[in-house]
Formats: sequence, structure tokens, C-alpha cells
Amino acid sequence: MKDLRTVILAAGKGTRMRSDCPKVLHEVCGKPIVGYVLDAAKAAGSLKTYVVVGYKGDLLKKRLDPGLVMVRQPKLSGTADAVRRVAGHLKNYRGDVLILCGDTPLLTNPVIKELVRKHKNSKAICTFLTATVDDPQGYGRVIRNENAEVIAIREDKDTLEHEREIAEINVGVYCVRSRELFGALRRIRLNEKKKEFYLTDIIDLFHQGGLRIETVTTEEPVEGLGVNTKEDLAVAGRVIRERILKDFMRDGVTIVDPATTYIDADVKIGKDTCIRPFTIIERDVRIGDHCVIGPFARLRPGVRLGHGVEIGNFTEVSRTRIGNKTLMKHFSFLGDALVGSDVNIGAGTITANFDGVRKSQTKIGNGAFIGSDSILIAPVKIGNRAVVGAGSVVTKGKVVPDGGMAVGVPARIKARRERG
Ligand code: UD1
Ligand code: CA
Repeated sequence: MKDLRTVILAAGKGTRMRSDCPKVLHEVCGKPIVGYVLDAAKAAGSLKTYVVVGYKGDLLKKRLDPGLVMVRQPKLSGTADAVRRVAGHLKNYRGDVLILCGDTPLLTNPVIKELVRKHKNSKAICTFLTATVDDPQGYGRVIRNENAEVIAIREDKDTLEHEREIAEINVGVYCVRSRELFGALRRIRLNEKKKEFYLTDIIDLFHQGGLRIETVTTEEPVEGLGVNTKEDLAVAGRVIRERILKDFMRDGVTIVDPATTYIDADVKIGKDTCIRPFTIIERDVRIGDHCVIGPFARLRPGVRLGHGVEIGNFTEVSRTRIGNKTLMKHFSFLGDALVGSDVNIGAGTITANFDGVRKSQTKIGNGAFIGSDSILIAPVKIGNRAVVGAGSVVTKGKVVPDGGMAVGVPARIKARRERG
């Protein structure tokens, strides 16, 4: 799909969120909501993406992919003004512009692709996405004439009495021919009620100019959800969470109870791994095949598990690599650890990885056995096949040699493991 560039509107503060954080940076399943919109643009075949930023724009620049073109909107004067800021970048561009709002994270790739496909095939000047919803309040309504042709989009605040009932709303996704888009934008007047320039006014202008307008309607109205409030954010979270879990189950991961399982976007899990109830798996976690996780486990960013690993109840693992067939079945915390394969982490084992100033690493070799209720004060190194006796405290800087043993508080280190 050549000749497609995308503009993402993300300059707003999101007043209704009542937050110090710009709206589009609020996270859903470990990813900012604008991240989902960026993914959709990429999947639609967009060759270049411009993100219009304003409120705390520097924060957005820091958080988003540096390959994106950030365009500043100095004053938040509405969605039409936001798109107009990109005009300079598209001066010699004659293709189509896909416009997306940064606050619609539930759009799926097929629907955006369908919009672009229909736009190209129908040779329309503008094709936009609509949804038929139970509660249209807050959205722009799609106004059609007696021949069902679109003649305008009316913003919620400007609707006339009989228009309030219209259930077909503007999702805020448009595919528009560049030249006509910027031509129309120059002619949009300030909306006196809101003191803003409305992008939606391009529809009225195109209609009056006799230019062809097409629409695509989503089959799943929830796709059109714009996150304006914290309540919307929770709805988006629920939908995305369900989608993530469905994808894992399709790929062969067992999710015992989807209702109590929380897995972030961009997590990888191998087949036949079983996720038991009340488990939280955060972003940037990779899990191999045939593992068992939970119940009541929390895996935090930077965790890498091999195959056949078991992480049981009341456990937390953070920034840690664990080799194949290692078991950590009850009440434990591993942070900043490098753990080999076939290790047993006894109940209640804790890596004390933070000394109040810095975080340090704990290394545990292949086949090691860490007895119950041990504390490993990092940095420490436990050798291959070494044993830490139950209740031991292995103090900072200690190295237990391969096949060695550590027992007591503080632990005494013996070169040879005692066999009993
Ligand atoms: C907008 C649409 C409405 C549609 C709804 C769908 C307009 C005038 N209205 O309304 O028809 O039903 O989205 O969710 O377009 N933004 C800027 N600069 C600005 C103002 C907004 O970049 O000056 C960005 C915001 O960050 C946001 C997006 O544009 O990502 C939409 O703005 P928002 O204020 O949420 O528009 P709605 O009132 O929801
Ligand atoms: Ca919105």
C-alpha cells in the first residue's frame, strides 16, 4: 500500500482524565494508549508517521519511538489546527493521509486496513470510520441526508435536539487526499462555542464542494472507544486484556482463569505453559514452553524463563533470568538474579538485591539447591551444584564454590558439600 502517511493527534491534555500525565501516555497493559494507535498505523502500511504533540510534548518525545516525526502544536486550538501543523511536512506530498486520534487504543488492524482499502478502491476524497453505539454522548454524530449520504459530522455540543438520538458516531479515523485535506483545513472557521477549529468540519466542506465521502463502519463498536476519562481507561484495559489472553490461548498457552490473569502487551509465552489464577505478568517478560506460573505469582519486567520452569504461589521475580527446569514454588523473591537450570529455590528464599543505594546481582549456578528461608545478600555467587542450608544468610560479596556449601547466620562457606 504505497503513498500513505499518518498523522496522530496527541497534543491534548486530556482534561477529563484529571491527571498530570498527558492523556495518551496513560498505560493500558503496560503500554501507553498512543502506542496501540502507532501499531495500528504501522500495520495499515503507513510509510511515515507524524505525531502532533503539545501538552508535555517533551515527555511524549522521550517515551515514543525516536523514528517518529514529532510536530509541535503550540496552542491547543482544536483537531483541525493540530492537523494543520503538519502541512509544512507534507507540502510536496500528493498521496493519502491517514489521521488517527492518539486516544483510541482499541482500533484493530483489520478495520484500519479495510478503511484504507475502501478509500483507495472507491477513489473517494475522504473516507472515515464510524461506529453505531448504545451511548453516543460525547462523540461527533454522523449526519446523513435522505439518500443516506454523509453531509456532515456534528460535534456533541453542537447537536440539535433531533440529532442527539443519532447512534452513528465519528470514531476519529480519516483517510484523506492530502491536497484536498490541507485545502479544506485553510477554510475551517473557529467554532465559537468551544473556541476551537474542528477537524470534523472538513466533511461539511467536502460535501458542499461535491467531493466524494465514504465511510466504513466497525462491526465491534467498542473499537471506536476514545479514552477521555479514567473510567474509559479501565474499559480499554479490560478489552485489551481479553484480547491478549485470547491470543495466548490460541497459540497454545493454558490460562486457567482469564478473569484473574493479567498479562501485559509485548509478553512472550511458549506453548503448553500453564498460567494459574491470580497471576500478573508485566511487560518485557519472556517465558519458555511447559512452564507453570502461579497461582498468585508476579513476574515483572526483564524476566526471562527457560523451558519447564515452575514459579509457584506468592512469588515475585524481577529483572531475572532463570534456566530450564528450575523450581521456585513458594513464597520467594528473586530480583536482579541470574539463575541456572535445574536449580531448586526453597520456600521463602529472598535475594536482598537493594542495599538502599544500589542494586546488585545474585548468581546461582546450575543444579544448585537453595534451602528454605535463605537470604542471599547481593552481590553473591552460588556455584554449580552448591547447597545453601535452610535458614542461612549468605552475606554480601560471598562466593560459594562449585559443589560447595553455605550454612548458618552469617553463612560459613565450605568448599565441599556435606552429604548426610
Ligand atoms: C473528537 C472528534 C469527534 C469524535 C471523537 C472520537 C473533533 C472536533 N471531534 O472529539 O467527532 O467523535 O474525537 O473519539 O475532532 N488534539 C490535539 N490538539 C488539539 C485538540 C485535540 O492534538 O488542539 C488531540 C487529542 O490529544 C486527542 C485527539 O486530538 O488525542 C482528539 O481530541 P479530543 O479532545 O479527545 O476530541 P473529542 O472531543 O473526543
Ligand atoms: Ca477523545
